Amino acid sequence: MLPATINIFEKAAKKAGRILARDFGEIENLQIKSKSVGDFVTSADLKVEESLLETLQYYYPNANYLTEESGSIKGEGETIVIDPIDGTSNFIHGIPHVAIVIGKIVNDEITDGVIFNPILNEFYWASKGKGAWCNNKRIRVSKRQYLTDCLIGTGAPFGKRIYSNYYKELENISRLTAGVRRFGAASLDLAYVSSGKIDGFWEKDLNLWDVCSGVLLVKEAGGRISESDGNNWTTKSRDILVSNTLVHQKLLENLTLL
Ligand code: IPD
Ligand code: CA
Ligand code: CA
Repeated sequence: MLPATINIFEKAAKKAGRILARDFGEIENLQIKSKSVGDFVTSADLKVEESLLETLQYYYPNANYLTEESGSIKGEGETIVIDPIDGTSNFIHGIPHVAIVIGKIVNDEITDGVIFNPILNEFYWASKGKGAWCNNKRIRVSKRQYLTDCLIGTGAPFGKRIYSNYYKELENISRLTAGVRRFGAASLDLAYVSSGKIDGFWEKDLNLWDVCSGVLLVKEAGGRISESDGNNWTTKSRDILVSNTLVHQKLLENLTLL
């Protein structure tokens, strides 16, 4: 049986997911606005977020909300974090690698999270102490211990997020591993580490809604989480490195010893 919170998050994500999937089939009719270089919001992001808030506020009328498109809604007790479409640029380009993200934070600790790709019908969830799951199957991080066997995900910065050391980081990791992947949705990158598809992932300058559910998934799947310079990751962090634990130190060394 699903934990009560995950049940509610699933209901919200699957209802909003129908809106997302419908709009994905008609992307030529989308209204698109640019927030800054490479950062877009579409009519679908707004509709999906509205639907998520409607369901979630029915069950959690008094909670705090932190959402990408409507900002913060002040309440009390827990905080529910929402990214209505993670991977908006993929969505606009008709690439079915997108997800709805809902997480719950209590006293600065992530207790529950879901990541739902409604196009591929992949529902990832984790709840504190209850493991990490995808469509009713328990998932775990990979067991690869040699970097030469590993695929590592990253988020290549764009626009004003570009930092010059990135290209050195990319070179170091590319030289030592079986390859680097840039899929375009940070939440799913973390879900992919949790399910052992990729062995690690790093990106800088992310928001809490990109990573909150994925951090719990990685933790519950047996992986390790830190900032990309090795400091402890907290809900205030903007940079992240996650891995299957076995290659964490080696990744850190190659991201920090430039
Ligand atoms: C973006 C995606 C992308 C990452 C960006 C995020 P959005 O979120 O997660 O993979 O590289 O940093 O902003 O804008 O599609 O919700
Ligand atoms: Ca996002
Ligand atoms: Ca988004």
